[in-house]
Amino acid sequence: MPIHKEDFGQLPNGQTVHRYTLSNNRGLTLKAINYGGIITELHVPDRNNRTADVVLGLSTLEEYLAGHPYFGALVGRVAGRITGARFTLDGTEYLLACNNPPNHLHGGLAGFDKKIWATETTESIEAEPCLMLTCHSNDGEEGYPGNVAITVTYTLTRENELRIEYAATADQPTPLSMTNHSYFNLAGEGSGNINNHLLQIHAHEYVPADGSLTLTGKITPVIDGINDLTRPTRLATLTGAPLEAHGDNYMINHQSGQDIVPVATVTENTSGRVMDVSSNATCLQFYTGKFLDQLTLRGKSGCVYKRFDGFCLECHGYPDGVNSPEIDDIILRPGKVYQQTTLYRFSIAGDSG
Ligand code: GLA
Repeated sequence: MPIHKEDFGQLPNGQTVHRYTLSNNRGLTLKAINYGGIITELHVPDRNNRTADVVLGLSTLEEYLAGHPYFGALVGRVAGRITGARFTLDGTEYLLACNNPPNHLHGGLAGFDKKIWATETTESIEAEPCLMLTCHSNDGEEGYPGNVAITVTYTLTRENELRIEYAATADQPTPLSMTNHSYFNLAGEGSGNINNHLLQIHAHEYVPADGSLTLTGKITPVIDGINDLTRPTRLATLTGAPLEAHGDNYMINHQSGQDIVPVATVTENTSGRVMDVSSNATCLQFYTGKFLDQLTLRGKSGCVYKRFDGFCLECHGYPDGVNSPEIDDIILRPGKVYQQTTLYRFSIAGDSG
């Protein structure tokens, strides 16, 4: 059975949350729940065909409900930080939830990561297992205008990819720019820090953030020895002293909705696992997991997560595009369809296919 459905837990109102297990013919297994669309597990074979769960996450629904740093979650309406938690659109000013002062982060206090999504399991025309999640965001939610209908599809492809497709429509102009916030550790969740991973990001420019993580809006060339990752770079050089970096917002495409292009390649040589990320999103937020120890969170394997135990590669539009439309126009208008696709392809170092 390529798709399996089971109960994962109950919300305080008694509603049952379900967990779906999808498997492809190449050894990939994905588990996701309809609370927040959270990817709770992703099992990937190593060079000896032993699988490990390569995403961070929690064991129970109660732990997810108690609060977590967006583990595996669908993020929206706008992923990342909107400066000052406000914007003006077509002459009207909108005040958003200021949930990461002084900014609005990841859609606010109750973003898409906390929604109960309706689900449908299907197969693609290539007989690949798909989980389709849909939800509505109401006019005024977290301060945003307009009603939005959202569909996200997780597919495990024959090319050994996790493909995430986002689509949405709105009845009023509204900013929309979604992502999935999975934390990866290709050596396996709970195996320690990410220092031995090699990361290559195919971007020559980034947008610096200030001390409060507010994006400055100045597209800047990447800096050799600091955040130029155009060549494979051992993550220890970023997570160790003296940098201890949290990551950066890299410019990938110059406009949203362009072709799907290579974004990043991650290699973990002990296991041999390689993950290639490609997307048609404008930006990549690389996040090192620096703030993972802000809460005491016991992962699925029983260990307490420490800083740098997992990293995120979040493909989305320019987060503050609503205040910097010259960088990226992230406004979804009635009659238009928002479409974003991100692929995570898994392979073994040295193998061609
Ligand atoms: C937070 C967010 C991440 C990222 C980092 C900063 O932890 O959840 O998406 O923006 O801050 O790099």
